[in-house]
Amino acid sequence: MRLAVLLSGRGSNFAAIHEAIGRGELAAEIAVVVSNVRDAGGVQRAREWGYRVELLPQGEFESRARHEEAVLSVLLAAAVDLVILAGYMRKLSPLFIDAYRNRILNIHPSLLPAFAGVDAQRQALEHGVKIAGCTVHFVDETLDGGPIIVQRAVAVHDSDDVASLSARILEQEHIAYVEAIARVVAGCRVEGRRVVSG
Ligand code: GRF
Repeated sequence: MRLAVLLSGRGSNFAAIHEAIGRGELAAEIAVVVSNVRDAGGVQRAREWGYRVELLPQGEFESRARHEEAVLSVLLAAAVDLVILAGYMRKLSPLFIDAYRNRILNIHPSLLPAFAGVDAQRQALEHGVKIAGCTVHFVDETLDGGPIIVQRAVAVHDSDDVASLSARILEQEHIAYVEAIARVVAGCRVEGRRVVSG
């Protein structure tokens, strides 16, 4: 399976996927890394590891639609099977989502459907939940609302702040993303809201 990794930031989830492929745990290859942020940490890592990198900052395009067309044409040219959103801070249009229906994965740092949207770890802490975690899901037109592929939970400690809770969740994100891609590679199906093994 050919993956495109889309990122805007430090790229630790991208690194976890790269390492899992290197260990032979995923029957997949990263065909291209796309970033809308020129100096993202993930871009640096991608270059060091010799991946094809496409930098597409939205400011260089006349509209949101033109920017997205550029991203889509990179994915098409790279014959990508799966689109991996790894801290990609752009909302995708319905057109984009439809072009890769059930082939776009996102990771969110909460146990969805709780705490969708920004600052999920802070939302969880402020709500007072005792169990937090992360979710890898297919992307649909709803905000963090697509069918769930993998979730992993962590305990919230009394002493936690946003930084410590985020760090504990992030460790699980790295495991969850690899598990989720492995499920997709193994042929899981979407039945209504449920993702079931093929
Ligand atoms: C992660 O917390 C992920 O859940 C969220 O964005 C962050 C990306 O981190 N969607 P990284 O760039 O993969 O380190």
